[in-house]
Amino acid sequence: RGKRAFIAGVADDNGYGWAIAKSLAAAGAEILVGTWVPALNIFETSLRRGKFDESRVLPDGSLMEITKVYPLDAVFDNLEDVPEEIKANKRYAGSSKWTVQEVAESVKEDFGSIDILVHSLANGPEVTKPLLETSRKGYLAAVSASSFSYISLLKNFIPIMNPGGSSISLTYIASERIIPGYGGGMSSAKAALESDTRVLAFEAGRKRKIRVNTISAGPLRSRAAKAIGFIDMMIDYSLENAPLQKELSAEEVGNTAAFLASPLASAITGAVIYVDNGLNTMGVGV
Ligand code: NAI
Repeated sequence: RGKRAFIAGVADDNGYGWAIAKSLAAAGAEILVGTWVPALNIFETSLRRGKFDESRVLPDGSLMEITKVYPLDAVFDNLEDVPEEIKANKRYAGSSKWTVQEVAESVKEDFGSIDILVHSLANGPEVTKPLLETSRKGYLAAVSASSFSYISLLKNFIPIMNPGGSSISLTYIASERIIPGYGGGMSSAKAALESDTRVLAFEAGRKRKIRVNTISAGPLRSRAAKAIGFIDMMIDYSLENAPLQKELSAEEVGNTAAFLASPLASAITGAVIYVDNGLNTMGVGV
């Protein structure tokens, strides 16, 4: 039987989530995605109208199939968490069962189990503000959407993950080195995500033999990255300073995710794997 993957955080064909979906599909996995509720309509419409067909092409010439798209808002664990204003919001009222717990229940009803869980989402409403100017609310929102969302997903999906399964998230070097401009508590959120990767590797490993790793990815011109505002500068900086002077493709991150999800990585868990052309290893730019 082929493996089944649930990838949270796909809303277009530009981000890491999409690339990971493609690499997993190319390796024979069945693909389910979780799409942020406010982005769901446009994503599904674009998919249906063939807007992503060119980027759906797999190495063997076939098109990636997404078996099902689930609406998801990973800052809400269950219905009790959802405030009235969100329930009343017409983008949210148009779909249902998008809290983390409900999505896991729906996946269970539809498919029974999964083998691979991918968290490729982040959100920091104050990301453009320096940490010293970040509000408590903004900081907590960044951690809620970008770090706790992963704990919540894993917690809710573990019961339907097959033993030997693999879970992957995406992180960024700003967790451990100063990257001015990656503000709003997003650097803190990534530090939490990396620390949690180790603890969750222990807990999920002991509980269900599930591996938990995170990919520290180099800069990619995704929708989320463009919103931060300094992505072109980060790409140029990497081109100039990294050991490998080439632009990083999303596919390289996707392929690493496929490796980590495969039996080839059967002894790797709790790890932060750098996929950044080696930029993290540099002490000074030359
Ligand atoms: P992206 O825009 O393709 O992905 C972010 C996704 O998160 C979007 O689809 C968005 O709709 C979704 N999202 C936001 N809040 C959500 C919520 N509450 N519930 C569900 N979904 C939500 O951008 P990208 O850059 O591919 O981001 C994916 C991951 O890669 C993130 O964790 C990001 O921090 C990480 N990353 C990105 C880098 C880059 O340069 N683009 C570098 C290193 C890590």
